[in-house]
Amino acid sequence: MKNKKIRKILKRKNKNPIVCLTAYSKTIAEILDKHCDIVLVGDSLGMVLYGMKSTREVTLDMIINHAKSVKKGIYKSILVIDMPYHTYRNKKEAYKNAKKIIKSTKCDALKLEGGKKIINVIKYLIKKDISVMGHVGLLPQSEKGKFKFKGRSSVERKRIIEDARLLSNAGVFAIVIECVEESLAKIISKSIPVPTIGIGASKYCDGQILVTDDLLGLSNFAPKFIRKYSNLKKIINKSVLRFRHDVINKNFPSRRNIY
Ligand code: KIV
Repeated sequence: MKNKKIRKILKRKNKNPIVCLTAYSKTIAEILDKHCDIVLVGDSLGMVLYGMKSTREVTLDMIINHAKSVKKGIYKSILVIDMPYHTYRNKKEAYKNAKKIIKSTKCDALKLEGGKKIINVIKYLIKKDISVMGHVGLLPQSEKGKFKFKGRSSVERKRIIEDARLLSNAGVFAIVIECVEESLAKIISKSIPVPTIGIGASKYCDGQILVTDDLLGLSNFAPKFIRKYSNLKKIINKSVLRFRHDVINKNFPSRRNIY
């Protein structure tokens, strides 16, 4: 049985767009919670926070620890957590790890990457009453080389459409479509009854997600699907420089800062 918040998201298909962002800590989660429908503890944290080469190095304990912190800042949004690479290779492994994540973090749902290849695992989790978000198109956990947008060849397009259809039939409550050609995102979004959440996948999706560090200008990642809404790196840099200046010139601490 899907919880109330998730049932509400399902009803947002073709209605007002769904707002989603990633969070890795309580501080950011508290800010996002006021404005987002879904907050995702994405395994992008491996590359964004830990400087890893791929998301494959993220472990179950890493994602659980960050999710515990994020949960402390979430009051109204749906909290979704990525299942890390190699934590859902078969039904048994997936269920054991899914239970561990849910028990330790009290999240609302889990996200798994892939369609046909993992459909039996997804069906099993849903049968066990776990809410699942799907993820098709570019699948960072399966990419070997540089991330490239998907949907160039008709074979690839057919495969992605089939993946989305299978996930929808299996009972996922939403599907992230990552880095696909616009017309493909449109076909998928129009042909399945569950909401689609795009990242580099066009306005035809039912909602959008970005990595928060990217939109804030904290990361160096700059593919064209990202819109930077601020340049926090610059702001932090300025503040740290001012602090350094004050320390060196003995302007900090001042009388107001001492006991
Ligand atoms: O790991 C992540 O942050 C994600 C989003 C980019 C969709 O999967």
